[in-house]
Amino acid sequence: MSSAGERLPVVVLISGRGSNLRAIVEKAQAGTLPVEVRAVVSDRPDAAGLEWARSRGLRTASLAPQQFSDRERYDEALAALVASFEPGLVVLAGFMRILGPAFVDRFVGRMLNIHPSLLPRHRGLHTHRRVLEAGERDHGASVHFVTRELDGGPVVLQARVPVRDGDDEASLAARVLEQEHRIYPAAVGWFAAGRLRYAQGAAWLDGQRLDRAVVIEASDDIAA
Ligand code: GAR
Repeated sequence: MSSAGERLPVVVLISGRGSNLRAIVEKAQAGTLPVEVRAVVSDRPDAAGLEWARSRGLRTASLAPQQFSDRERYDEALAALVASFEPGLVVLAGFMRILGPAFVDRFVGRMLNIHPSLLPRHRGLHTHRRVLEAGERDHGASVHFVTRELDGGPVVLQARVPVRDGDDEASLAARVLEQEHRIYPAAVGWFAAGRLRYAQGAAWLDGQRLDRAVVIEASDDIAA
């Protein structure tokens, strides 16, 4: 927990484009999000987001799984690398590898993820396609604490978007992504301000146990 005026040290993990990373870094560098991005770490040395991070003067590192004999050794090495930056919060932002206990247990309670669905609906991959195939009329994104259960940790904040007639995967993904860029910095800001925490297997906001996530509609303002 950080007190007024301090910036929470954060490490962001990415695998690709890094647009959620960008949403967070831009607010941090503008002084509207009280975090210091200590490093951006990727499992893919060619992740486009790493190049962007370097252009913003951020420290970057990558660790490719191919260099390790098994998943557990990789997770241990990744955990050691991330821990070396002494983060108060680990932010998974499009990190597309499943993290095992060797990693998760080390950061539980101080690790968030963003997932492109209204959890608990549609854990895993291809969420936009699955929403369209199921004929659902709403969709969205969720920020949640990471636990051992894949996409199953306590959900903190969700944005709901409508599914429109004529939507395809790309149009729906774009509408959801726009909301990801709003809710992820907001939830990270809550954590950095000491308003959001993880205890007893649950998320707590302003001292209240969140039995259900805070849900915003695409048109709502988010209370800072
Ligand atoms: C985002 O849509 C994020 O929700 C999703 O990957 C994309 C990354 O985009 N994450 C997952 O699917 C995690 N299971 P970005 O690299 O532009 O932030």
